[in-house]
Amino acid sequence: MIGRRQFIRNSMMGAGALVFARSAPYMFGSDAAGADSRIEVLLDEPLGTISPDIYGHFTEHLGGVIYDGIWVGENSKVPNVNGLRKELIDEVKKIKASVVRYPGGCFADSYDWRDGVGPVDKRPRRTNFWAQVESAASATNHKYEPNRFGTNEFAQFCKLIGAQPYLAANVRSLTAKDFYQWVEYCNSPAGSTTLADQRAAAGFSEPFHVRYWGVGNESWGCGGNFTPQEYAVEFRRFVTWVPGFGENLAFIASGPSDYSWDWTRGFFEEIVRKDPGQVRSIYGLAMHYYTWNLSRGRTHNWDEGKGDALKFDVVDWYELLREGDAMESLINGHWQIMGEYDREHHVKLVVDEWGAWYRPGSEMTPGDALEQTPTLRDALLAGLNLDTFNRHPEKVSMANSAQLINCLNSLYLAHEDKFCVTPIGHVFAMYAAHQGGQSLRTIFSAPNVSYDRDGKPASFWGLKGSASLHDKELVLTVVNPHASEARETDVGIRGASVKSGTETTLAHSDIHAHNSFQDREVVKPQTKPLEIKGSVRYTFPSASVTRLTLSLA
Ligand code: AHR
Repeated sequence: MIGRRQFIRNSMMGAGALVFARSAPYMFGSDAAGADSRIEVLLDEPLGTISPDIYGHFTEHLGGVIYDGIWVGENSKVPNVNGLRKELIDEVKKIKASVVRYPGGCFADSYDWRDGVGPVDKRPRRTNFWAQVESAASATNHKYEPNRFGTNEFAQFCKLIGAQPYLAANVRSLTAKDFYQWVEYCNSPAGSTTLADQRAAAGFSEPFHVRYWGVGNESWGCGGNFTPQEYAVEFRRFVTWVPGFGENLAFIASGPSDYSWDWTRGFFEEIVRKDPGQVRSIYGLAMHYYTWNLSRGRTHNWDEGKGDALKFDVVDWYELLREGDAMESLINGHWQIMGEYDREHHVKLVVDEWGAWYRPGSEMTPGDALEQTPTLRDALLAGLNLDTFNRHPEKVSMANSAQLINCLNSLYLAHEDKFCVTPIGHVFAMYAAHQGGQSLRTIFSAPNVSYDRDGKPASFWGLKGSASLHDKELVLTVVNPHASEARETDVGIRGASVKSGTETTLAHSDIHAHNSFQDREVVKPQTKPLEIKGSVRYTFPSASVTRLTLSLA
């Protein structure tokens, strides 16, 4: 039986049209009859500022993410900006992506950043970490890394979309010196160092100003197969002397996968054993959580437990959401352990890989390893996860959906000149309004969803979401997980009245609905004004993600 760790280990071995308006929002005065649910937003109970960085992304040299997804080449017939796919740039700008992680993932710990800089015709070809999972149908540059896209191109992509770069260093197979020299290449001022000259020679005299640096990736597995104690020693060594060049460098330690409490405990134990003050060298602990096990408790086998992205029944719909909902207890659990060693909670959680991971078979471009086609179900999972991060602003300082394009949990799918925004991409566009807002405690009361789980009764919450305040504007996002029932809900804003508002809803009558290259707008949000006559009553459609934007008096 193989689990996720073994999967990673094995990989190491080889080297709207119908969208809707089923909602019927209306306001009520004295007639409060009919609603079975209530949402209470507590304006006087702020939880903290929602970091824009939790609306972050991840791009790895894996399958079609970089080559075909982001990079099409300057001479491509696909519209591009210096080789970077233009339609992607235009779309990502709309979602206000704050930060993008690169170059992996597992790829990071077999990558030499020097291979990807310097004259393009001199860059070496290398076997990609993921070559093992590529198929005969995969493009050659997915198996053998041509290094046409490297640090310069990535930095340019970030600049074009207005996001900060977050680079993951190679701890498994390079040295601490290679790490600080990569920082020097990116950040040293023009004319100051040989590496700054090399950067300028490539056309980038202005430093890249990279603040976020990951020290390895999944160091318990593909990133070196370390024990947490061994990794803590490496972490200390890697961050001991790194020139900042005026940047407030933020080091992110490789953290646990899902329920690996022992990793968090072991890492912090070893870090503080040397010196309790050492926690201050850590900006964040990277936690990874993929929603993958749809076996209804039958197995923990990484291959057998996965479900299909497109073919699923209503039980699988609820199971995915239930599995995804574990994110909240994982955040709380790891945070509690961190607090045992870092009482002031200097170190925050960086959930730099999250999303659904299905079995292969739904890829829109045959041969794209790990690519899958997101449906409405994944839109609800995205809303659920983003709401969870919003509700824990003091704990989660960054999160990165894995991965931006042509992979798991992708916002976009592309192949050659074909492109579409997935339902997940639409959720990110809707939720961007939360960025930088003051998260507010919000109480959701709704009848639970009940369903039959292989002959046994199972249940799931009926409505959940998050709220944030931006001056006099309140943003409330809500997931209704019920596959077939709308939820008529009274929305109370304790401490203010509502002047005006808008509703944006992503829903569909078919829970399997998804977008494709041929049919790009099957799942698409609808926005309209809210009619305000007093307090708010809103009917959340079944199987929906909704954003209400309310102007407060
Ligand atoms: O996102 C795909 C892979 O999942 C990443 O490379 C790795 O970090 C994780 O196991």
